[in-house]
Amino acid sequence: MLEIVKVSARHGGPDAVPVIEDVSLSVAAGEIVGLVGESGCGKTTLARVVTGLHRPDAGAVRVGEVDVHRIRGRRALRAHRRQVQMVFQEPSLTLSPRQTVRQAIEEPLRIHRLGDARFRSARVRELLDLVGLNPAVGDCRPRQLSGGQQQRVAIARALALEPRLLICDEPVTALDVSVQAKVLNLLCDLRERLGLGCLFITHDLAVVSQLADRIAVMQDGRIVEEGRTDDLTTRPRHAYTRSLLAAVPTLEIRAVEDTVRS
Ligand SMILES: Nc1ncnc2c1ncn2[C@@H]1O[C@H](COP(=O)(O)OP(=O)(O)O)[C@@H](O)[C@H]1O
Ligand SMILES: [Mg+2]
Repeated sequence: MLEIVKVSARHGGPDAVPVIEDVSLSVAAGEIVGLVGESGCGKTTLARVVTGLHRPDAGAVRVGEVDVHRIRGRRALRAHRRQVQMVFQEPSLTLSPRQTVRQAIEEPLRIHRLGDARFRSARVRELLDLVGLNPAVGDCRPRQLSGGQQQRVAIARALALEPRLLICDEPVTALDVSVQAKVLNLLCDLRERLGLGCLFITHDLAVVSQLADRIAVMQDGRIVEEGRTDDLTTRPRHAYTRSLLAAVPTLEIRAVEDTVRS
């Protein structure tokens, strides 16, 4: 469903050094693919290229049949925006302090002129339920909610348009470990129920190995290793993957695993 083909990108003018180079990666429907690498290696830049916010120097990004950087015309762009949604590290940056939760989740439906007031109101209730929030939360402002609840609202908002693909850029990094597990569970559950494809970006191999079907390891803007999660975590081939694994405290992995299962 998502096909990233030999993408290179830089920030700044043509003289700037590329931040990501020759990156290829795919995500099938219903698949969660983890992208892991240390801070500054180019993960967010890749996410921005995938969502069409940043133009690559070379390569292509396809979602279904559509080349993301060759979309022409408002209608086509609008149709594409319904397919791909992004969830960021800081829900507080996505959610306006002035909007209630209900307004925040309803906004994409309004922008895309979907349904009447009654339809939208029912859809907001449905989405709150989907992410495990009480309908009463709809009247709250973000500051009245915990970080975990805010991230659930951000996910509900991202799901409002029934996207086929979710790009999650460090979605649990700002959360406590116990809350992280709940949000990860939610993403697994949504993938099962909605058949969503998900590119899950993180610096934390312990987190991503809990939910990804496959993992790609990025170092200095290049993918150095890619494989099924079990293979990659038990039989890493690249020295950098081994060093990431060695940096994972085993107790912490078990703690996250236990919470995810419970
Ligand atoms: N808007 C920008 N302008 C210039 N350089 C940037 C910009 N955004 C990121 N960079 C640089 O690109 C590199 C990769 O950044 P980023 O994609 O944010 O990495 P990550 O998400 O893996 O931490 C870093 O060296 C960063 O300083
Ligand atoms: Mg980043």
